[in-house]
Amino acid sequence: MTSLSDLSTRPTIRDLMRSTGVTETGSPSSLLKTARRVAEHRILWGEKVEFDPAWRRYVRLHRDLSLEVWLICWGFGQDTLLHDHGGSSGAFAVVEGELLEDFGSVTSSKLTTRRHHTGGGASFGPRYLHNLVAADATPAVSIHVYSPPLSSMNFYCLVRDGLYHLRCIPTESPEPDTADLVEEAAVRGTSA
Ligand SMILES: [Fe+2]
Repeated sequence: MTSLSDLSTRPTIRDLMRSTGVTETGSPSSLLKTARRVAEHRILWGEKVEFDPAWRRYVRLHRDLSLEVWLICWGFGQDTLLHDHGGSSGAFAVVEGELLEDFGSVTSSKLTTRRHHTGGGASFGPRYLHNLVAADATPAVSIHVYSPPLSSMNFYCLVRDGLYHLRCIPTESPEPDTADLVEEAAVRGTSA
């Protein structure tokens, strides 16, 4: 394993992955270590931070066969809609602002709410679902890691009988166009 002390002042994301011992499949705990390592190295993403009042800005920082890393910039009130990650595991680290998360499993309609402050984060397995929202007036910035890289995402809403599957969207980014789903979720029930 490469020690962080061995790295140059501007390590590559591949260097950081090696330093966290990420395996080919990427366990959730190692993905969170990678997200935190990337978050600590603002030189890798700081100049890409940009906010848009209409939608989240997102930039892929790294992708290989086993893992990808994204930067996401959030304006107040912007949320993801309740979703899973198409079978990928993942993790995120909040580097600025705060994110409010409703999370649970695709096998249950029970959601739990938690707040991730600056420096916080979480990791998850392939059956995880959540909705993230920037619920603080301060814009938020977060680093997200997925393994394997995303190929699809399923979107859901909560209805009286439980979880309702809105649609599976093939996607290679964590931010597919969900404009029509937001409207459908609002009509069908509570979108978490
Ligand atoms: Fe997500």
